[in-house]
Amino acid sequence: MAESNVSLKEAASVEAAGTIDIDRCRDDFPVLRREVHGKPLAFLDNAASSQMPEQVIRAYTEYHSRNHANVHRGVHLLSQEATEAMEGARETLRELINARSSKEIIFTSGATDAINLVMQSWGRTNVGEGDEILISTMEHHSNIVPWRMLCDEKGAVLKVIPVSDDGILDMEAFASMITDRTRLVGIVHVSNTLGTINPVAGITRIAHDHGVPVLVDGAQAVSHMKVDVQQIGCDFFVTSGHKMYGPTGIGILYGKQEMLEKMPPWRGGGDMILSVSFDEVLYNDLPYKFEAGTPNISGAIGMGKAAEYIKAVGYDAIHNKEQELLRYATGQLQSIEGLRIIGTAPEKSSVVSFVIDGIHPHDIGTILDLEGVAVRTGHHCTQPLMERLGLVATTRASMAMYNRREEIDQLVAALRKTIEMFR
Ligand code: ALA
Repeated sequence: MAESNVSLKEAASVEAAGTIDIDRCRDDFPVLRREVHGKPLAFLDNAASSQMPEQVIRAYTEYHSRNHANVHRGVHLLSQEATEAMEGARETLRELINARSSKEIIFTSGATDAINLVMQSWGRTNVGEGDEILISTMEHHSNIVPWRMLCDEKGAVLKVIPVSDDGILDMEAFASMITDRTRLVGIVHVSNTLGTINPVAGITRIAHDHGVPVLVDGAQAVSHMKVDVQQIGCDFFVTSGHKMYGPTGIGILYGKQEMLEKMPPWRGGGDMILSVSFDEVLYNDLPYKFEAGTPNISGAIGMGKAAEYIKAVGYDAIHNKEQELLRYATGQLQSIEGLRIIGTAPEKSSVVSFVIDGIHPHDIGTILDLEGVAVRTGHHCTQPLMERLGLVATTRASMAMYNRREEIDQLVAALRKTIEMFR
């Protein structure tokens, strides 16, 4: 495939190890240059979906302009180029999360689809009546609903690890809740609502001591911190492209090879077979066994390019920048009278959820939008967590590597204006 004009190293804005040249970084993201309602855009809704850098957009359009063809099927050059680009992306993603083999990286339409794959294939084979699935109170709906569906189908029990008022997982309760009927622990790596970073390696160790496999929902982790699936030790790990500077409609399921080998396919169709007759089907090897039909080729290429972008910037630089923004945002927001931050765990990603006395989050979000500030308001697809915290909704500011203090200032000024309006 043709290379981009601007090399990632050049454009990804590494000033010195551990820092980001913020102006150059922002330059990579065209959307950050636009205005909203006549105000400069302050994009603080990155936990919902982060923006794409030029390098990803270019890889995506270049593929469609020059190389598009179906993969794994054609003898012609375009098909070979498309296959090479997609498999290259798989290898880049393998490296990003340090899986042992690219056979362990299954392309899906996103983290939700990946969890559903595990539920449909592993879950329906391994979970029976009276068995237990253990998840936490702070799961996203995508790591609740599939397991609720499985439990309803099988007569199994969904058990829920409690969280404290601060949004910290109760590890003692977790350890005591594993029984000889526990079949799976499903745990979110980073809470999309609270920002809490869970000790997933420790959780996996405890679960494995009881012979229980672990699925980690990493949708909110990969853009913020180095994920090493071998170090975590988990059996499954899922994430989405669009939360790590890549396109929508693409994600990955990482599964330990020995687990994936034993699992039956979920979806049937082209590409996941070695041979088909009306009487018998021989399934393809990993990872293709789980990739029926024409995949999202450009999405996979874009997600691979996003992984390259993250690597070029470097996790040290991303961590330093985002933690500095988190500290700044927390301090500035705490100075607003009547504002309460929801989720104050010591280990947090760059997410700040909050409520303000007497003002509904949807009103806050609407007024912030008019001031150019994009945040998410609502239950953040975590209704059981909201219920636990006695809330119906929060306002959530979520920062990415390209955000600046000035955008936090814009948020704070807009919030003060909102409070004035409701006085
Ligand atoms: N899961 C996404 C969020 O937290 C949509 O906003």
